[in-house]
Amino acid sequence: MVWTGKKFIVFEGIDGSGKSTQARLLHEKLTINGVANFLTAEPTNRPIGKLIRDIFAHRLYGNDATIAALFVADRLEHLTHPEDGILHHLNKEVLVICDRYYLSSYAYQGIHVSLEWVIQANAMSVSMAKPDVHVFIDLPVEMALERLIQSRQHIERYETLENLKKVRDQYFLVIDQLKSEEQIVVLDGSQNQELLSKQIWDLLSN
Ligand code: TYD
Repeated sequence: MVWTGKKFIVFEGIDGSGKSTQARLLHEKLTINGVANFLTAEPTNRPIGKLIRDIFAHRLYGNDATIAALFVADRLEHLTHPEDGILHHLNKEVLVICDRYYLSSYAYQGIHVSLEWVIQANAMSVSMAKPDVHVFIDLPVEMALERLIQSRQHIERYETLENLKKVRDQYFLVIDQLKSEEQIVVLDGSQNQELLSKQIWDLLSN
């Protein structure tokens, strides 16, 4: 098929919201339909992303400011890598699906270090590649944690009821603050995953 819909699509949501599943389902549908696409995620699997994951899994120490700065660096690397980078794919007219991007930093780091700082520190990424749409999959925190407990062996930094509530509130605050500059859609993550996937397809393909 000839894709005339969105070209740079980002999925957002709290841990356990189902955004990674939706990103994967979209990737599979696009691929079946012959639409060249690249599925990617943050934190990345590159050295800076691995450092972040080590900190989250308590294998390394890192404070909240360091983490915020590492996400900025990981994202710039993610954008500019010559073979695996987001810009490289967008320049080749390959559709990019990214599981988390700078809104995640605004929501997660913005509650630990100042939101203004996080927004400023990410300004270069925003100017390099602004998503055509951020798809925010919303889910009550209790349901998200329930899913996490069933699917995980260990619970990572940030994955507590109290913190995820703060993150979800922060997402809504940021979405409200950015609605004139960014294209953001909020979808109900508590519905059947196949129905949600269809809703996303209909929304993005137009
Ligand atoms: P997540 O999407 O849950 O990855 P995985 O499913 O592989 O564990 O992301 C891992 C964590 O990273 C999650 O708790 C959110 C956090 N995160 C931030 O705090 N800031 C960011 O900018 C990004 C991209 C992620």
